Amino acid sequence: MSSVRILAIESSCDDTSAAILVDGKVLSNYICTQKVHEQYGGVVPELASRDHQKNIVPVVEFAMKQANITWDEIDAIACTTSPGLIGSLLVGVSFAKGLALSLGKPLISVNHMKAHVMANFLSDEMPAFPFLCLTVSGGHTQIVLVRDYLDMEVIGETTDDAAGEAFDKAAKMLGLPYPGGPLIDKYAVGGDGKRFKFPEPKIPNYDFSFSGLKTAILYFIQENVAANPNFIQENLNDICASIQERIVSVLMNKLKAAAKDTGVSTIAIAGGVSANSGLRSAANDLARRHKWKLHIPDFQYCTDNAGMIAIAAYHQFLKNEFAPLTVAASSRGI
Ligand code: KG4
Ligand code: ZN
Repeated sequence: MSSVRILAIESSCDDTSAAILVDGKVLSNYICTQKVHEQYGGVVPELASRDHQKNIVPVVEFAMKQANITWDEIDAIACTTSPGLIGSLLVGVSFAKGLALSLGKPLISVNHMKAHVMANFLSDEMPAFPFLCLTVSGGHTQIVLVRDYLDMEVIGETTDDAAGEAFDKAAKMLGLPYPGGPLIDKYAVGGDGKRFKFPEPKIPNYDFSFSGLKTAILYFIQENVAANPNFIQENLNDICASIQERIVSVLMNKLKAAAKDTGVSTIAIAGGVSANSGLRSAANDLARRHKWKLHIPDFQYCTDNAGMIAIAAYHQFLKNEFAPLTVAASSRGI
């Protein structure tokens, strides 16, 4: 078969991204992260879609240029259609449809959560089937049983907040800007994660809950700041390390249980929170102890990016899974 060249677009939240993938290998993966939300402590949907509109043309042009590829050489246009913020999705989906129509190329509709899992196939060493993937992002927390490319079953998920949201909200309570997850990670370095104890939620099966932990952190901060106004500044490293330690232990305990019960020992981690250094080292420790074959994508493919959309689209292309130009964007998905 001749080469398959895909242009993929991601715009489901606050990153505008475009990637070119040729036969499963990334030639370019350009990500433009919106800064406008920092001052608001979270993503403002209307501002996000306006920024996508500003960014989409230069981002796609830059990815094309970086890959040194022409429009004629592209075989298909892919975009995230769900889940995500509807106004944000619409920008990428409308743009991809316009390109597909004007260039006469097929369109591929990609699910963002499946694409996070598929990011593991951008590494040189790819996971063997079946494997379990812990997908941890700002909007989702899932344990997914992956039977084949794109053949996935969600066996556990959060009943309230996502893990990334727990990081971001805790950071906000500490006065850190959005997104606070990477900052908690940064300040946790050198901190004592055992110093402050936060409760572990009691949720059955492989499901998660982070809202109780969020409330516990809020009360902990309020009480301590009332007693000492400089409490946060004086203890930032230990607080961040303790919060991170608890979020990571919740995730790892469920993953450990799922691996034990299913007998699956190939484990992958995906989504923005998989960039967390505490999570990566805890997963590596568990892998050593339980003889797991562990896969974690490169940093650039952990947080939202079009490279992961492109690799999912590539496997859809191989299965002739194309979308009509009438395909709709949807805020919901697996
Ligand atoms: O996958 P992603 O880029 O977007 C969504 O699909 O939500 O994930 C973003 C989330 C944010 O909550 C961000 O704070 C979190 O991933 N995140 C981290 C780290 N890097 C990104 N959380 C903890 N530690 C990090 N190093
Ligand atoms: Zn994501």
